Amino acid sequence: MRLSVIGTGYLGATHAVCMAHLGYEVTGIDVDRGKIDRLADGVVPFFEPGLEDLLRATLATGRLRFSTSYDDAADADMHFLCVGTPQRKGEYAADLSYLDAAIESLSPRLARPCVVVGKSTVPIGTAERIADYVAAHAPAGPDIEVVWNPEFLREGFAIEDTLRPDRLVFGVKDESGADAMRRVYAPLLDTGVPAVVTDMATAQLVKVAANAFLATKISFINAMAEVCEATHADVKKLSEALAHDNRIGGRFLHAGLGFGGGCLPKDIRAFMARAGELGVDQALSFLTEVDAINQRRRARMVDLARECVEDSFRGRRVGVLGAAFKPNSDDIRDSPALDVATRISRAGAAVTVYDPAALNNARRDYPELTYATSVEAAVADADVVLHLTEWQEFRELDPAQLGELVRQRHIVDGRNALDAERWRAGGWHYRALGRP
Ligand code: UDX
Repeated sequence: MRLSVIGTGYLGATHAVCMAHLGYEVTGIDVDRGKIDRLADGVVPFFEPGLEDLLRATLATGRLRFSTSYDDAADADMHFLCVGTPQRKGEYAADLSYLDAAIESLSPRLARPCVVVGKSTVPIGTAERIADYVAAHAPAGPDIEVVWNPEFLREGFAIEDTLRPDRLVFGVKDESGADAMRRVYAPLLDTGVPAVVTDMATAQLVKVAANAFLATKISFINAMAEVCEATHADVKKLSEALAHDNRIGGRFLHAGLGFGGGCLPKDIRAFMARAGELGVDQALSFLTEVDAINQRRRARMVDLARECVEDSFRGRRVGVLGAAFKPNSDDIRDSPALDVATRISRAGAAVTVYDPAALNNARRDYPELTYATSVEAAVADADVVLHLTEWQEFRELDPAQLGELVRQRHIVDGRNALDAERWRAGGWHYRALGRP
């Protein structure tokens, strides 16, 4: 079976590599020549553990190719749509222009029966619109099946989530669409991965509902952190105790600076925007609060840092550990760490940021901040150190050694991930979100 993968960002590049790894002939298509050239040379244009090795191994088999021309996708049996659907500037709604452009370029080239599989996260109703467009504009229109197969991959775990997902979801119009999906995913289904076969609307909804639930779970524990701050309770212990309840579970119950990245924040907003269009905005009004709680954590982090420098950032040096929106990623989209760093810099402090992977991206998008290429350089002469992205490297720091470099041994742990006792034993004044 020959496959095309349209869009070679996080989702598409990972999907193309993994499908070629499973034995398919795959052509990855993207309009960005730079990205395509790098992928064809065996270079992954973003940080994703393990992906570059797998890319090189699959390129060597000859099964994986990359191209900027949709003509090279024309003879595929199945086309996976993996383009981004970012938040529209100044609005909550999703920007579907990349998806529309992809389908407009692909459709005229679909001259033989095939399956078009949407994987991008979309507002409910988009899949049906795409199916109508393909039926009307592709030469083989009536013989083309459109299926929705949302993707749940996490950055940093992209290969694992693609090859060993918790579940597969197939949104189909009829049984033949489901059969096509069962065929292409047979290597995964054979290992016991469950598949949920449903209609197109439900399949689109599964993705946004999952992200809304995850964001809500994070904001729930962060709301508890606010209560902890008012009562001298400890949110880390609270979360540990809640997690022992099997009905609740411990995942996504980690209190800290909250969620960022290219998915959760924009997906809950696009979901609210779509709910408004559908006349069910009240059903999702709680997501406004989920978003607000998430934003308040950033403000609280700035306040804690300010308390460490006697209420004024003027003339103070602040060392920031972390720029990526989460560890094991170089992604800085809606990064809580860089948001906090920027606010403090604008309040008058000299802020120096270090991150193991995201420095280039941060320098490009946040040129007003100062960057260092080591922890030591970032914290030199600092009045306060802020731990904002929980990289393993930061957990392993030697507090006593680092203490020699700073002006004042103040650390605020925005991710509740450092060993408070070790830092205190190293002479530091340790503070964290939601903890006494
Ligand atoms: C998310 C979804 O998990 C994934 O299924 C979807 O396909 C895309 O969006 P991702 O954005 O890669 O994936 O990151 P994820 O690991 O889910 O973390 C999201 C954010 O939540 C990060 O900023 C992380 O730091 C934060 N988070 C996560 C918490 O603050 N607390 C937690 O307990 C878990």
